[in-house]
Amino acid sequence: MKRLLMACLVLAMVASAPAEENAPLGGPAADLRFKGYPDAPAFTVVPRKDKLSLYPCSNCHRFMEPNPKPRDLSPPHNAVEFQHGAGRVWCLVCHNPTDRDTLRTQLDEQVDFNDAYLVCGGCHADRQKDWYFGGHGKRVGNWQGERALYNCTHCHNPHEPVIQAREPMPPPPVRAGLERKDGHGHAKQRVWDRYSSELKEASNAH
Ligand code: HEC
Ligand code: HEC
Ligand code: HEC
Ligand code: HEC
Repeated sequence: MKRLLMACLVLAMVASAPAEENAPLGGPAADLRFKGYPDAPAFTVVPRKDKLSLYPCSNCHRFMEPNPKPRDLSPPHNAVEFQHGAGRVWCLVCHNPTDRDTLRTQLDEQVDFNDAYLVCGGCHADRQKDWYFGGHGKRVGNWQGERALYNCTHCHNPHEPVIQAREPMPPPPVRAGLERKDGHGHAKQRVWDRYSSELKEASNAH
C-alpha cells in the first residue's frame, strides 16, 4: 500500500509539472538537457525495436486515454511483472503518455525505443557515464573506429532490472588423457591424502 501511495505521489508530481518545465528542445530548460560526453568515443547502439512483440503500440493506444493509475494490468500487459524503483517509479514515468510508440526522459524529451539508454541515464547517470566510456555494458563489432554498444535493455529488463544470481556452470571436463582412471591405484589418491594417512598411522602407533 505504501508503495502504491509513493507511486501515486511521483505520478501526481509528474502530472502537475508546469508546462514550461516540459518545454520542447530550445525552451528554457535546453541548457539542462543531457547532450552526451564530448570525450567519449563515437558509437552506435544495437537497435531493439524489432524485438518488441507489441510494437507499434499506437495500434491500440491511439484509441485509448492514458491512465497513470498504478494498478494490476489486464491483457495484453498482464505479464508485466513490475519491480523497479522500490515503489517510486511507474509506467508513464518512462512511457510517453502522448505518443505510446516512444519513451520519455525525466525532462519529458521524447526518446525512441532504440535510445532507451537516454531514459535510464536520467536516474542512473553514473552507470550511464561508465557505459559511454566502456566501463559498463558491452561493446560489439570493432575495437577501432565506430563502436556498437548494447543498449541497457539488452541486459536489464526495464520492468525488473536487477540481474538475478545464477547457479554456476559445472566445471569443465579435464583435458583428454588427463582424467583419473578407475582402478589405477594412486591416481585416486592425492599427494596430501598419502601424507595424512601416514601421519595418522604414526600417531596411532604411539
Ligand atoms: C493489443 C492492444 C495493445 C497494444 C498493442 C499495446 N497496448 Fe498498452 N495497453 C492496452 C490496454 C487494453 C491497456 C489497459 C490495461 C488495463 O487498464 O488493465 C494498456 C495499458 C498500457 C499501459 C499502462 C498505462 C495506461 O495508459 O493505461 C502502458 C504503459 C502500456 N499500455 C504500454 C504499451 C506499450 C509501450 C506498447 C507497445 C510496445 C503497448 N502498450 C501496446 C492495450 C495494448
Ligand atoms: C524505467 C522505465 C520504464 C518503466 C517504468 C516501464 N517501462 Fe515498459 N519499457 C521500457 C523500455 C526501455 C522498454 C523497451 C524494452 C526493450 O528494449 O526490450 C519497455 C518496453 C515495454 C513494452 C513492450 C514489450 C514488448 O515486448 O512489446 C511494454 C508493453 C511495456 N514496456 C509496458 C510497460 C508497463 C505496462 C509499465 C508499467 C507497469 C512499464 N512498461 C513501465 C521502460 C519502462
Ligand atoms: C525515474 C527514475 C528511474 C529511471 C528512468 C530508471 N530507473 Fe532504474 N532504478 C530507479 C530507482 C529509484 C531504483 C531503486 C534503487 C534502490 O532500490 O535503491 C532503480 C533500480 C535499478 C536497478 C537495480 C539497482 C539496485 O541497486 O538494485 C537497475 C539495474 C536499474 N534500475 C536499471 C535501470 C535501467 C536499465 C533503466 C532504463 C531502462 C532504468 N533503471 C531507468 C530509478 C529509475
Ligand atoms: C552487457 C550487459 C549490460 C548492459 C548493456 C548494461 N548493464 Fe547494467 N549491469 C549489468 C550487470 C551484469 C550488472 C551487475 C548486476 C549485479 O551485480 O547484480 C549491472 C549492474 C547495473 C546497475 C547496478 C546494480 C547494482 O546492484 O548496483 C545499474 C544501476 C545498471 N547496471 C544500469 C545500467 C544502465 C543505465 C545501462 C545502460 C546505460 C546498463 N546498466 C547497461 C549488465 C549490463
